[in-house]
Amino acid sequence: DFKDKKLLITAGPTREPLDPVRFITNYSSGKMGYALAEKAVQRGAKVTLISGPTNLTPPLGLSKYIAVDTAQEMFQAVMEHFTYADVIIKSAAVADFSPKDIEQNKIKKQDFNMRIELKKNPDILQELGKRKTKQILVGFAAETTEVLENAQNKLKRKNLDFIVMNNLTEEGAGFAVDSNIVKILHKDGRIEELSKMLKKDLANEILDRIYSYML
Ligand code: CTP
Repeated sequence: DFKDKKLLITAGPTREPLDPVRFITNYSSGKMGYALAEKAVQRGAKVTLISGPTNLTPPLGLSKYIAVDTAQEMFQAVMEHFTYADVIIKSAAVADFSPKDIEQNKIKKQDFNMRIELKKNPDILQELGKRKTKQILVGFAAETTEVLENAQNKLKRKNLDFIVMNNLTEEGAGFAVDSNIVKILHKDGRIEELSKMLKKDLANEILDRIYSYML
């Protein structure tokens, strides 16, 4: 049902260097984004996958695979490719901040506490929300507090068609596990509560919702 549709999917964490041997990152495994890419290919889509560092093998049959490290690199890759896409799914866990200065040499141990100054990274999804023309835009939200309210704000602020919300406090949801428990919040105010399921099955559920927006 996705024959010849162009999907741009981002996955995994980003990695923000401090010095040649250290970086700041998060627990994202990339499993959700890779599952989406795999299922979309199986359903006939032309898929570009932009991925931060993961231990996963990119699914067979991608049109393009772009490996990035930092949020800034992901921003550039997404902005280069989104105009041709019919659908953009932003499942990556983008670091919101990165070290202000990247030291050329390894930072040596000191006898006092250390401070790292961080600068804000671009919000890729929010920028897409501003620039999008006809594209269907899908985001993810990872929340631990005021879960619904925060996700609803993201849906509006980032101008999305729908947002897939993980409550990270629920067992079997969120980062690194094979399953997920989500709610899908649509721009028309509908909220769907999905039961706990494998990320591969959730990928198909998400694609079904996207398909209904393409009709
Ligand atoms: N996102 C993005 N660029 C960023 C941060 C987030 O594109 N710099 C995208 C993610 O890919 C995800 C959505 O925005 O689809 C929500 O990410 P999340 O981390 O839940 O929210 P934030 O916007 O970072 O807000 P907060 O950290 O305050 O929860």
